[in-house]
Amino acid sequence: MEKTIAELRKDYTLEGLHESGVSHNPFQQFGIWFEQALSAQLPEPNAMTVATSTPDGTPSARIVLLKNFDERGFIFYTNYLSHKGVELITNPQAAIVFWWAELERQVRICGNVEQISDQESDKYFYSRPLNSRLGAWASEQSQAIASREVLEERFQELQEKYANEEIPRPPYWGGFLVVPQQFEFWQGRTSRLHDRLGYTLLDDGGWQIERLSP
Ligand SMILES: Cc1cc2nc3c(=O)[nH]c(=O)nc-3n(C[C@H](O)[C@H](O)[C@H](O)COP(=O)(O)O)c2cc1C
Repeated sequence: MEKTIAELRKDYTLEGLHESGVSHNPFQQFGIWFEQALSAQLPEPNAMTVATSTPDGTPSARIVLLKNFDERGFIFYTNYLSHKGVELITNPQAAIVFWWAELERQVRICGNVEQISDQESDKYFYSRPLNSRLGAWASEQSQAIASREVLEERFQELQEKYANEEIPRPPYWGGFLVVPQQFEFWQGRTSRLHDRLGYTLLDDGGWQIERLSP
């Protein structure tokens, strides 16, 4: 007999996460876990949910792809005029969540958000496949569109227009940098007694590590 939704559950048994086994630097710790997600050949390990909100606090969330991270923060690319783009410009704060199911791990990050420089957005844009670049021009992301055909026709027109010239980066397309103030590393454990280690940025630039109750 098939299970009901309420009966769907999984016990997490792979491993634990201990204060003595993590880096004091959460960027380094993220790097270690990200490398392990890559080695485990997870599908789209750089897919992350990004939550934003309007200035008056109405939230929204969607998945985007992490395209770089370093000690500045976490970068993804999008349309600055999209729903998320407008929210991030008017209320520059975000929360990010990675869920690496096969490793029974979740990472949460939150912080302030900045638009990256045009030069850095250009560098990534020009590394993208030609059709992805055209797609950035073809899509008025998050706007209502009359039909699929309208989108495909627009794409075809752009293919013809740029057949013999370089496709420039649209001025409304680029990267956002999430500058973390908090991280949480979550490792699923048996009986719902999960391990959670939270990192909070201190005034002196160091990080306070605390174990959080599951
Ligand atoms: C796996 C996956 C990766 C995605 N990557 C991106 C991305 O990097 N940038 C982006 O703008 N949208 C990406 N999307 C589409 C977004 O989820 C979303 O539909 C789109 O950005 C519009 O969101 P908004 O209306 O909230 O602005 C991705 C979707 C999925 C499922």
